Amino acid sequence: MRVLEPTPALDSVTPAWHFPSTLIDRLRLADGREVVVRPVLAFDAAAAQDFVRALSPASRLRRFHFGLRELPPTLLRAMTDVDHRQHVAIIAEAIDADDEARIVADARYVVGPDPAEAEFGIAVADAWQGLGLGRTMMRRLARHAARHGVKRLVGDVLPDNAAMRAITDALGGRLVRSPDGTGVLRARFDLRA
Ligand SMILES: CC(C)(COP(=O)(O)OP(=O)(O)OC[C@H]1O[C@@H](n2cnc3c(N)ncnc32)[C@H](O)[C@@H]1OP(=O)(O)O)[C@@H](O)C(=O)NCCC(=O)NCCS
Repeated sequence: MRVLEPTPALDSVTPAWHFPSTLIDRLRLADGREVVVRPVLAFDAAAAQDFVRALSPASRLRRFHFGLRELPPTLLRAMTDVDHRQHVAIIAEAIDADDEARIVADARYVVGPDPAEAEFGIAVADAWQGLGLGRTMMRRLARHAARHGVKRLVGDVLPDNAAMRAITDALGGRLVRSPDGTGVLRARFDLRA
């Protein structure tokens, strides 16, 4: 009788691709609205660009620290076509009145040259801020990072960013002066496995 070859492990077929389905969830926000949180995928590029374009200039500045209006194509691709290991990104989607899904928040980290440390970035659409979404997404991102070997999450925060300072505090992080001397603060979360 012919014995079939064992199927190779999925990871050996697609080494760069891993889908973290544990990051999928539905959240009810403080005002009763619901969003679905899930890892970003390459086909989200157009929606991700719409999300960035729709942010207020102040929110875009706080997120990217320079005055961009939209993401340049290479950055857009880098932010949506991610490997879900070195670069982990979650989005929150809401369904609008036309039954279309729209991105209302984005949180991510990229593991650095030192694999113990990853840099995070987060943004919530202006009309969805102050409802607990930012804090919840940061908490989930930090939990996922800790489970996958990251020991520290760091990110630059403009000094006037009260919401990000509050999140850092609430999640047990610390704010220190950024080493580059620009006055930007560095949020640092020491993660436990
Ligand atoms: C920072 C940001 C992600 C927070 O998201 P959010 O969904 O609005 O935050 P939450 O509703 O979870 O609130 C978190 C905390 O911030 C506080 N907060 C929210 N908006 C605030 C504001 N405008 N001023 C002061 N505090 C504020 C909340 O009261 C809460 O504090 P608490 O934990 O003590 O109750 C969001 O404001 C944002 O996208 N800003 C622009 C981009 C940015 O700043 N990114 C961070 C740098 S990478």
